[in-house]
Amino acid sequence: MIQTSATNAPSSSPHHDRILILDFGSQVTQLIARRLRESGVYCEIWPFNQTEKSKIEAFAPKGIILSGGPCSVRDAGSPHAPTFIYDMGLPLFGICYGQQLMVQQMGGVVEKGETREFGRAYVDIVENSPMLEGVWQNGAHEQVWMSHGDHVAKLPSGFRIVGKSTGAPYAIIADDVRRFYGVQFHPEVVHTPHGSQLLKNFTHKVCGCRGDWTMKAFREEAIQKIRAQVGQGRVICGLSGGVDSSVTAILLHEAIGDQLSCIYVDTGLMRTSESEQVVSLFREHYNIPLIHEKAQDLFLGALEGVSDPETKRKTIGKLFIDVFDRCSASIGGAEFLAQGTLYPDVIESVSFTGGPSVTIKSHHNVGGLPERMKLKLVEPLRELFKDEVRALGRELGMPEDFIRRHPFPGPGLAIRLPGEITAEKLAILRKADVIYIEEIKRAGLYDAIWQAFAVLLPVKTVGVMGDDRTYDFVCALRAVTSTDGMTADYYPFDHEFLGRVSSRIVNEVKGINRVVYDITSKPPGTIEWE
Ligand code: XMP
Repeated sequence: MIQTSATNAPSSSPHHDRILILDFGSQVTQLIARRLRESGVYCEIWPFNQTEKSKIEAFAPKGIILSGGPCSVRDAGSPHAPTFIYDMGLPLFGICYGQQLMVQQMGGVVEKGETREFGRAYVDIVENSPMLEGVWQNGAHEQVWMSHGDHVAKLPSGFRIVGKSTGAPYAIIADDVRRFYGVQFHPEVVHTPHGSQLLKNFTHKVCGCRGDWTMKAFREEAIQKIRAQVGQGRVICGLSGGVDSSVTAILLHEAIGDQLSCIYVDTGLMRTSESEQVVSLFREHYNIPLIHEKAQDLFLGALEGVSDPETKRKTIGKLFIDVFDRCSASIGGAEFLAQGTLYPDVIESVSFTGGPSVTIKSHHNVGGLPERMKLKLVEPLRELFKDEVRALGRELGMPEDFIRRHPFPGPGLAIRLPGEITAEKLAILRKADVIYIEEIKRAGLYDAIWQAFAVLLPVKTVGVMGDDRTYDFVCALRAVTSTDGMTADYYPFDHEFLGRVSSRIVNEVKGINRVVYDITSKPPGTIEWE
């Protein structure tokens, strides 16, 4: 993934009401942004330590949210908010660490609590407040999700207590005059059932946001922006078959028509019918010209005898660039490359560990291309979350089954075939995968799962079918839930479902005589097997 610019540049959506989220390193900061976007509010996440006053003024937020974080405000050197934010006349909302920080920076006291609260907790509402209007009344006892050791022990002047919990006597605090609010719990997680309404109260009632961030508005603005950036230049867009690159291409085509050329490289590592679906979506559904480069032999030839996962990925990545470069040259080259980069890819994460990061896997998108071909990037989706890309896809009239497709990795089935890749193994894997996905859809589970796929293991085991001994491959099934692919949990299928898939695969796919289900979360596992 190519990271091109800092995120805290002034927003490119100047017509929308905006909220700024200062990130102090919480695992769930992105969820704050997602909740706000769901209620129609444009927001950006900026690292707490990269915020100059002039940049905030240029961004012109209607309010600022201070996120949670892993540190203790009592520790020397813990991250602080720039103090000028308390004098900007803007509403503020501190969440967990953000609340404690606000209290401490404004003259209150934060202590190490006797009772640490992690997970489900309850707050008692002891007063009403505009923040709670229409959500929680005085006297209510409400479920929330906590994760804290410290708590507020003395409020700065101007604040009052609105809610209490066993471990946090100041679970909800308010200064209605300055419009400063703080909560010890996390309203952004689903385990705080009314959390998104509280966030909406802050953005809509306290800050006065109108909820004007819609995909219809985004579509129109994005088209203007693309035209302004590209001018008369030519743009190429590599399609992977995934939602992000498809939406990027369709949006671009709407903006610049024939100045766009789409290239789809068929590596021979796609799933059953995948190539036909992509080609038909573009050529028939949208009437967008598409170069369909059939490069199966090239890819499978280069992968012959390769079993090391990193060598596989690098071989595929390099070949992809060669083929793409050749296709691009055949249409006279281009000045721009369009990519489906999303907001989670460009948010600068706040890291408190500071250690060198390890390459777990070399991800292959079209990395390397812009440098080699001297291309400028067009990334119209870089402000969007995945669910917003899907909403934009709907706005652009994409078929629903295409929009809801699970992500599929650039190196394709190559990384679902540990060991050497052969045409025979690919064929076996495709058949198993089709059955698995078909059963998931039939059971109505497809949309509840982030990603599901079959893996063909380079292991043969003995079985018995009828009176015959078999000696065939093992197929592993993977299905995970996730919000962004960064962390994941295995999907808890019931045994009957797994049994049905297993018996269908063993009975219908020649070459597989054993099926296992992968119940590893990420971390410590990864979603793909290689
Ligand atoms: P891992 O296996 O790293 O996967 O847990 C996380 C998510 O990324 C996808 N993935 C890729 N996507 N190019 C891509 O475009 C790649 O090289 C690649 N490798 C993994 C994976 O399918 C999952 O959704």
